[in-house]
Amino acid sequence: MNKFGGEWTKQKLNVLEDYLNFYMTALKNRKFKKIYIDCFAGSGEIEFSDSSKINGSTIMALNLENKFDEYHFIEKNKKNFQQLKKIVDCYPELNIHIYNEDCNVALPKIISKINWQFSRGVLFIDPYATQLDFNTLEKISCTKAFDVWYLFPFHAINRMLKKDKNISGDWKNVLNRCLGDDSWEEKLYFENTQLNIFDCTEFEKVSPRDVQQFIYKKMKEIFPYVSENYLVLKNSRNSPLFLLLLLISNDNPKTWALVKRVERYILKDKSMV
Ligand SMILES: C[S@@+](CC[C@H](N)C(=O)[O-])C[C@H]1O[C@@H](n2cnc3c(N)ncnc32)[C@H](O)[C@@H]1O
Repeated sequence: MNKFGGEWTKQKLNVLEDYLNFYMTALKNRKFKKIYIDCFAGSGEIEFSDSSKINGSTIMALNLENKFDEYHFIEKNKKNFQQLKKIVDCYPELNIHIYNEDCNVALPKIISKINWQFSRGVLFIDPYATQLDFNTLEKISCTKAFDVWYLFPFHAINRMLKKDKNISGDWKNVLNRCLGDDSWEEKLYFENTQLNIFDCTEFEKVSPRDVQQFIYKKMKEIFPYVSENYLVLKNSRNSPLFLLLLLISNDNPKTWALVKRVERYILKDKSMV
C-alpha cells in the first residue's frame, strides 16, 4: 500500500472528486465517450503515518455515482500495480485498463488510440516529485479534449533552483525536462551588481511567488486555459509542497467560462496562494 501524504493529500482528492462529479453531471447527456486517466495511479489505497487509510484517486473515481465509459490507470511500481490490479478486479462491470509502465511512455500510446473527435476526458497527474516530462503535457494538450489536474511538484523544483544558480548538470536536465526548456535560467535569476565586486557575475533568484508565476506561464504556453486560482498545498510547517493546477486543453472560450465558475465554487474555502 502507498504510504505518503498529509492533510494536503485529502485536500487534492476532495478537489478532484468535486470536479469529477461536476464533469460527469455536465456531460451526462452528451454523446461523447467519457474517459478518466490516472497517470500516477498508486496502489488504490493510501496509508498515513498514523496508520489511518483512505481510498486513493483510482478507487474514488471508480466509486463515483456517474461512471466513466473507460478508465486507464498507469502505475510504474510493480508492487503497487499488483495491489491496484486486485482492486480493479472487483469492478468487472467497468471498462478498466491498467498499465505497469512509466506514464511518459504509456500515456502517449493510450491517447494515440482514442478518437478525440468523439471522446472527452479528465486526466489526473499525481507524481511524488519530478516524474512528469513537459513534452508529455504537450501531447495531452494536443488532444484538445482533456481537462487535467496536475499536482505540480513545486517544492522539488524550487529546491533544485539554487539561490546562487550553481546548479549541477543533472539537476539542470531535470529542470529542463519538467519545465520544457532552459528559459528558467534567464527568467528566474538576475545579476546582483552589488555583489559583483571581483568582476565575476553573481546571481540572485527571484521570489517563490515569482517562481510560481513562471510555472503558471509555462503551462499557459501549451494549454489554452490554466486556472489562475491554483491551490498551493502546504505541509504542517506551512511550506509549499505542490501547486494543484487545472489545465484545460479545449480551446473553446465558452468551455473556459464554465470551468471558471466551477473552479471558483470547488476551490472556495480551500487555502490559496
Ligand atoms: C503520489 S502517488 C499516487 C497516489 C494516487 N494518485 C492516489 O491517490 O492513491 C505516486 C505514484 O506514482 C508512481 N510512479 C512514480 N513514477 C511513475 C511514473 N514515471 N509513471 C507512473 N507511475 C509512477 C509511484 O509508484 C506511486 O505509486
